[in-house]
Amino acid sequence: MGGTVEFCAMCGIVGYVGPQRAQDVVIDGLRRLEYRGYDSAGVAVVHDDALWMAKRAGKLENLEKVLAEEPLPAAGVGIGHTRWATHGPPNDANAHPHAGEARRVAVVHNGIIENFAELRDRIEADDHAFLSDTDTEIAAHLIELQVQSGVDLTEAMRRVCQQLDGAFTLVAVDAHDPERVVAARRNSPLVVGLGEGENFLGSDVAAFIEHTREALELGQDQIVTLTRDAVQVTDFWGRAAEVTRFHVDWDLSAAEKDGHDWFMRKEIFEQPRAVADSLIGRRGADGLLQLDEMRLADEEIRELDKIIIIACGTSFYAGMVAKYAIEHWTRTPVEVELASEFRYRDPILDSTTLVVAISQSGETADTLQAIRHAREQRARVLAICNTNGSSIPRESDAVIYTHAGPEIGVASTKGFLTQLVACYLLALYVAQVKGTRYGDEIDEIVAQLEAIPSQIESVLEQAESIYGLARDHVGARSVLFLGRHAGYPVALEGALKLKELAYLHAEGFAAGELKHGPIALVEQGLPVLCVVPPRGRDQLHGKMISGIQEVRARGARTICLAEEGDAAIEPYADELIRLPKVPVLLQPLVAIIPLQLFACELATLLGHDVDQPRNLAKSVTVE
Ligand code: F6R
Repeated sequence: MGGTVEFCAMCGIVGYVGPQRAQDVVIDGLRRLEYRGYDSAGVAVVHDDALWMAKRAGKLENLEKVLAEEPLPAAGVGIGHTRWATHGPPNDANAHPHAGEARRVAVVHNGIIENFAELRDRIEADDHAFLSDTDTEIAAHLIELQVQSGVDLTEAMRRVCQQLDGAFTLVAVDAHDPERVVAARRNSPLVVGLGEGENFLGSDVAAFIEHTREALELGQDQIVTLTRDAVQVTDFWGRAAEVTRFHVDWDLSAAEKDGHDWFMRKEIFEQPRAVADSLIGRRGADGLLQLDEMRLADEEIRELDKIIIIACGTSFYAGMVAKYAIEHWTRTPVEVELASEFRYRDPILDSTTLVVAISQSGETADTLQAIRHAREQRARVLAICNTNGSSIPRESDAVIYTHAGPEIGVASTKGFLTQLVACYLLALYVAQVKGTRYGDEIDEIVAQLEAIPSQIESVLEQAESIYGLARDHVGARSVLFLGRHAGYPVALEGALKLKELAYLHAEGFAAGELKHGPIALVEQGLPVLCVVPPRGRDQLHGKMISGIQEVRARGARTICLAEEGDAAIEPYADELIRLPKVPVLLQPLVAIIPLQLFACELATLLGHDVDQPRNLAKSVTVE
């Protein structure tokens, strides 16, 4: 099959074996996982030596309607899937489960099989027909070929996993083996629920918590075989593997939030994974950057003489960071404009202008109207978006999907971080095509981006001390945020988070601008959060310290975010949060994390609904 391939970056998976009706257990589990994705859903059970499957595009309720009219036969083994696709159309054919050629093995999958094309070419030559655009279907065909050769499903899974590259959770059933579910895990979540005479699989414990609170956490590169009475775990090579057993002591609603009190907090902690997912599959076999859905010819990119970024709110601040990176790496002039203002100033656009629309939801009316205006003026439009099939990418010439997974908290967190990653990738891609950076320079920056997830982890490890700072400032009436260069949009975003969640007066300023007016706001005890640029050859760091001295001299209480080893900041910081060492252009990826945690915690302490702040909506579809 040609065309775009469907990847499932963040989906919900359920597996069951036991005395209950598998269809019901699986559907209940999928309902609890629906927050992970809702592009399509499907279920497969094994009955009478045959596979029985139902799947539908759209929300789970579409599948439930089908099953209400035509239930699958009562069976004790089943698997299910709810999907968050990031490329191409979410339709019935691409919904999981997928079956092999003989419809004997069915598979559900979360992740990306990077070498699927090569594997598919190999067996397509043997007259295998593929019914979907997914990378998953190849796994179903390969596992089925193995069981047909006489090995059991567990061994079949092992042999196939040894051939797969990428990140994946796979769960499979075999029509000729009605007592067993087999799953594999590499770099993608999967937990086992341990019941009495029944066992469960889920992307997270929410899938089975109404049945059992006893669970096993699977490790990397492990295979698990579930029967009613046993759970056996090995590695990909058949050796017995160590697993961690745990008891889930959260209630059902917390389980959906992975033990966190708010979806927002959960999403903050998901950022290392979201950034890593946004970087997967961006390099071709030749090592060059590739952006799958770019759909802009190299010639068009070479002819670009201006880039205009349009967006709203947090996405606008991502655009402000992008300007620094794009201009520096590509030497192409960039303007950043609020989408709601864009078309009213009669912008100068033509076919050599690239308009980049950044939108998490893909439905923001201001941004949508702005791209319509841009296209009327013959500009090329590229969307950076987190929502497959939404209006903004549909009406754009090209799209880069971010891979944050569904963002439920109204305040954007992982959406912002993955937008930044997409902007950096776009900048590097333009630099590659225009030849404004050498290949080895691009490689070096990509490697620095690849190191970011573990650097974000190290910031998240300081959460408790950041919560302590929030406790110290519960009584604050106003908070200022200062930054310079790429740290300036971070200051603006930190202030926006505090406004929308804690309902506090908060302002972000470029530190150099303070003395031109805003410094009059500073009074005794005013908390000022300062994003300190890394020390470099430029004078940014020293100038920032001067700004911090100015506010401190007037009684402000300074909370400084500065890189490890920066001793020069110590005399001027009442509180210090350490950031990992990263280049100045990438610093927003780590510097925003403490500000998100600070706002989330302060709002919690004030008793506000963090996931649904007053007067706000996740997707703003009116101008
Ligand atoms: C703030 C926030 C909003 C959105 C803005 C644009 O936390 O989430 O400011 O960033 O409404 O939304 P999208 O990106 O969906 O176009």
